[in-house]
Amino acid sequence: MSVKVKNNIWWVGKVDWELRKFHGEELSTHRGTSYNSYLIREEKIALVETVWAPFAREYVQKLQQEIDLKCIDYIIANHGEIDHSGALPELMRLIPETPVYCTANGVKSLKGQYHQEWNFRVVKNGDRLSLGSKELIFIEAPMLHWPDSMFCYLTGDNVLFSTDAFGQHLATEKLFNDCVDGGELLQECLKYYANILTPFNSFVLRKIKEFISLNLPLDMICTSHGVVWRDNPQQIVANYLQWASDYQENQITIIYDSMWDATRKMAEAIAQGIREEEPSVLVKIFNVARGDKNDIITELFKSKGVLVGSPTVNKGLLSAVAGILEEIRGLGFKNKKAAAFGAYGWSGEAVKMMGERLKEGGFTLVNDGLKLLWNPDEEGIAACRSFGSDFAKQYNLTIKGEP
Ligand code: FEO
Repeated sequence: MSVKVKNNIWWVGKVDWELRKFHGEELSTHRGTSYNSYLIREEKIALVETVWAPFAREYVQKLQQEIDLKCIDYIIANHGEIDHSGALPELMRLIPETPVYCTANGVKSLKGQYHQEWNFRVVKNGDRLSLGSKELIFIEAPMLHWPDSMFCYLTGDNVLFSTDAFGQHLATEKLFNDCVDGGELLQECLKYYANILTPFNSFVLRKIKEFISLNLPLDMICTSHGVVWRDNPQQIVANYLQWASDYQENQITIIYDSMWDATRKMAEAIAQGIREEEPSVLVKIFNVARGDKNDIITELFKSKGVLVGSPTVNKGLLSAVAGILEEIRGLGFKNKKAAAFGAYGWSGEAVKMMGERLKEGGFTLVNDGLKLLWNPDEEGIAACRSFGSDFAKQYNLTIKGEP
């Protein structure tokens, strides 16, 4: 069923209530998602993006109930990733001559995935396509989220179609941002940014500043996942400007895994030491083997300080800790202080290894870490509290103005 967005713009996408993992198994989506596709019915008719491949047949059938497919003049492929382009093969089978507008990189990704010679029309930044009295302006947006990504802006209605940017994985019957729970919405936007867009902070900042410099009025942002930003769309733009600027809250996050509880006890004693030294800071503790990896990454994204703990096992780390360290290395967090800790029985390499991986990930190591032999006794717990307290002192220097 279509939903009217504004004037002649209709949502014709798919709400995916079931989805719990995205990008294969990489990203948790506790609240499902949507694949937003929009039909713009001006003198000329444009279809902006499609849906994920498993819903291709259902999507095309429903689209046929809305419109004779032969009446679609233009298909706009803002982004070639399969969650938005996945229904193109089914659609293009029925209307093979319809032009597909995309970037030069869009042609590469679409051909690379579907191996079809569709009627591609390559567009560049600032190109325009007339729909009659209104125009689509194309805005290349590389790395938001792939090299092929672009936005398009509909004049007259002042609507930005932003593909992945400003989106969130949230299934809802209510299409608009003012109709959903604001807390859930913000949490999902933050998680989406932290886990997907963090590596592209500089591209996000550059593109938003460029868009602002165009002085185009902005009444709505139609993303390709989640809600349409109808009420004050500038709010999510402001959030992105903050999040892309090495965002931090007054928070220290401790992540660890433990075999026989020794490293857990260390984590909790370190947290106590931090609180004693710096009561204003919010300290959160997560066992990475038991928590949701993407929720934990969202917490790391918000943190000024991060402590990572693992016992030594087979001269290395527990795999859950190794896995999340690899993940955050790829995300490229900046301007965060860090330290490592862990218990050991005989060789004790883990702490040094975690420190090296944190440095590779762009963290500033504040010390050589803390390793304790066997299960911490009273003296060991005191050492952990002192370690936490020292870390908080380093953290305190940061919040008092150190770069
Ligand atoms: Fe929602 Fe990058 O695809």
